[in-house]
Amino acid sequence: MSKDTLTVTDNRTGRTYEIEIEDGAVLAMDFRDIKANEGDFGLMVYDPAFGNTASCRSAITRIDGEAGILEYRGYPIEQLAESSTFLETAYLLIYGELPSQKQLDDWREEIRIHTYLHENVKKFMEGFQYDAHPMGMLVGTVAAMSTFYRDAKYVTDPVSRHNQAIRLIAKMPTIGGYTYRHNQGKPYVYPDNDLTYTGNFLSMLWKMSEPQYQPDPVLERAMEVLWILHADHEQNCSTNAMRSVGSSHVDPYSATAAAAAGLYGPLHGGANEEVIVMLNRIGSKSRIPDFVKGVRAGEERLMGFGHRVYKSYDPRAKIIKRTAEEVFDLVGRNPLLDIALELERIALEDDYFVERKLYPNVDFYSGIIYQALGFPVDMFPVLFAIPRTSGWLAQWLEMIQDPEQRIARPRQIYDGSERRDYVPIEKRS
Ligand code: CMC
Repeated sequence: MSKDTLTVTDNRTGRTYEIEIEDGAVLAMDFRDIKANEGDFGLMVYDPAFGNTASCRSAITRIDGEAGILEYRGYPIEQLAESSTFLETAYLLIYGELPSQKQLDDWREEIRIHTYLHENVKKFMEGFQYDAHPMGMLVGTVAAMSTFYRDAKYVTDPVSRHNQAIRLIAKMPTIGGYTYRHNQGKPYVYPDNDLTYTGNFLSMLWKMSEPQYQPDPVLERAMEVLWILHADHEQNCSTNAMRSVGSSHVDPYSATAAAAAGLYGPLHGGANEEVIVMLNRIGSKSRIPDFVKGVRAGEERLMGFGHRVYKSYDPRAKIIKRTAEEVFDLVGRNPLLDIALELERIALEDDYFVERKLYPNVDFYSGIIYQALGFPVDMFPVLFAIPRTSGWLAQWLEMIQDPEQRIARPRQIYDGSERRDYVPIEKRS
């Protein structure tokens, strides 16, 4: 009769162990009972970069990487992108269910009345260099927010947790808007709470002397779709940082700053920026074969391709490709799109990419849209961080309330020097 267990024989001792299998996983701690001798520490599980280690149970986001499926709380990303708004999706991530009309109205109102930043935040942001990278400014500013909301450290208090989640989701676009205006040398624009979440963000970027900025509805909707797609993606590098740093029970501003720092890297949320740099460097369709040859030789990396989890087409990239066409109908075609489409076509037929199951990910096309919308390249990671904040917070809230979670503290395999005695400097060779 089949059993949900794993039988392991330790060939060092000849002993056999039976290990429980639950939810398709074994407990790493069960391996600690496997010892070569009495004083042995017990077996550890070695998994650099968490290639096959589940660090938590989560009910927020499900990805099936082989089938190219992404769902938030069970709802397919395609349906949310088609029918939801960003704030409704954020509610879904945080609370687990789609809101009733009243719940949605209350949620919008709560976010709406928390969009302003303390004036002192504005003052210290003014101290950044004129050409500071907006993502660096965002990371620093979010971290500093913990000094404005001292109650944020009471992470075991549900009221405090709720207040900080609202504040972070509400204020992140304002921080993002200020970073842009700072780089432009233009006065910072205060939030316009009569606009939608995305409309207000566009206003904080582009409003000049007009009494009210009116976002184009097509662009506003495109931003909603892009932000829904970026809202969560289960245990990626930045979310893992949010959970890991948050597991020390530090306040959520500090944990969000850590997550945003993780996102900033070119292998994660910084990839959309790198895609544009790469496409510009390629410059024309005729130079694509040479570029791909460089990738095959290991001299180049095709940014916006490949994913730890997806081994088929990233479902977000499919939706973004469609959104790109709608945006380009309005603002004109970004010439980089033709290079990207041809690069995708060639790569998907090339053995190197086929064998490794490398497909376009969310970042391959998002930067092309953002550029067509008029965002400078170094704002791209900020455009990722704003919507991902709701996902980070949903994950943080889940982690704080999960009785199985303790402070994150991995083991290591020490492979340094044996114990040795200190040598005075004059005796060292
Ligand atoms: N270009 C060329 N080769 C690649 C690429 C790429 N973009 N991605 C993976 N490979 C190769 C890699 O060299 C390795 O080859 P080999 O087996 O010969 O050593 C093989 O494919 C497996 O890749 P890996 O590096 O072990 O994969 P990973 O899971 O550690 O890395 C990744 C995932 C996303 C960091 C990587 O695919 C990558 O660097 N992609 C480009 C950066 C990028 O687009 N990042 C955005 C990810 S999606 C948005 C987000 O959520 O952050």
